[in-house]
Amino acid sequence: MTDQLVYLNGNFVPKTEATISPMDRGFLFGDGIYEVIPCYEGKPVGLALHLARMRQGLAALDINYSLNINEWSSNIDALIAPFDGDASVYLHVSRGTDNKRYHAYPSNIQPTVFAYAFPIAPSQPLDKDEAKVFKVKTQEDLRWKRCHIKSTSLLGNVMHFQQGQDSGVDEVLLYNQQNELTEAAACNLYVVKNNVVATPPLDNQILPGITRHILLHAMRDSGVLEVQERVIKKDELTVADEVWISSSSKEVAAVVEVDGKLIGDGRPGDAWLVAQSIYNDYKFKM
Ligand SMILES: Cc1ncc(COP(=O)(O)O)c(C=O)c1O
Repeated sequence: MTDQLVYLNGNFVPKTEATISPMDRGFLFGDGIYEVIPCYEGKPVGLALHLARMRQGLAALDINYSLNINEWSSNIDALIAPFDGDASVYLHVSRGTDNKRYHAYPSNIQPTVFAYAFPIAPSQPLDKDEAKVFKVKTQEDLRWKRCHIKSTSLLGNVMHFQQGQDSGVDEVLLYNQQNELTEAAACNLYVVKNNVVATPPLDNQILPGITRHILLHAMRDSGVLEVQERVIKKDELTVADEVWISSSSKEVAAVVEVDGKLIGDGRPGDAWLVAQSIYNDYKFKM
């Protein structure tokens, strides 16, 4: 798709013609907030939740941009229209373009707003043999202490993810200096033991994932799996029945190997099948 239209500052323009200034603070400082909104069969998942999280991030950075759900619903429809139903929209708001590089927030600049759509894999198949599975390694979490803000400053996450790629795994599970699991480089995480699903509590060490939010609500509301939001020690991985990760583009995915050791029999477990199935039931309702 050479002439794909993207959204830039209120206009739909060909991707090859969309330009921003090198003085944009998103470029110079990573001074911005982003969202990735998955759409399956042409329908966005959790749009209101994604926009609410973005508003919180913009408020945390004092970026003055008002997100209107009706406007963004129709922008998203327009962006995903050329794709075959399954696409994600990347939405990025930076503080805007200044005339000098200076750390303090300038006043009176217009935020830069950019969005584009890209194709994604169809929803996870409800089949243990067909579902995409992940091999991971663990690493000490060396990112910053504001991981709850979905900032475009992602270098900490990028470096963890790349170190995973360099060692031949698909993701990296992170733990803090107390050996407590936080999240993955680009996902939230879950440890399942005796049909109880544990996930780290929301705090400044993790992103409040929208997939996590929908999944926890779905599991609690349907009552099929017990949920605990609690501190999880890294050692719990070694005795887990199942380990999962979640994100907008992966939905709920089974981790089958951690640091070279199989989880369970090295296939997605029964609880994963239940979780992804009820996630599907709830994902368009929230
Ligand atoms: C660090 C991190 N944690 C968690 C998530 C999952 O968030 P969501 O479910 O909203 O995609 C992401 C998604 O990009 C992420 O980058």
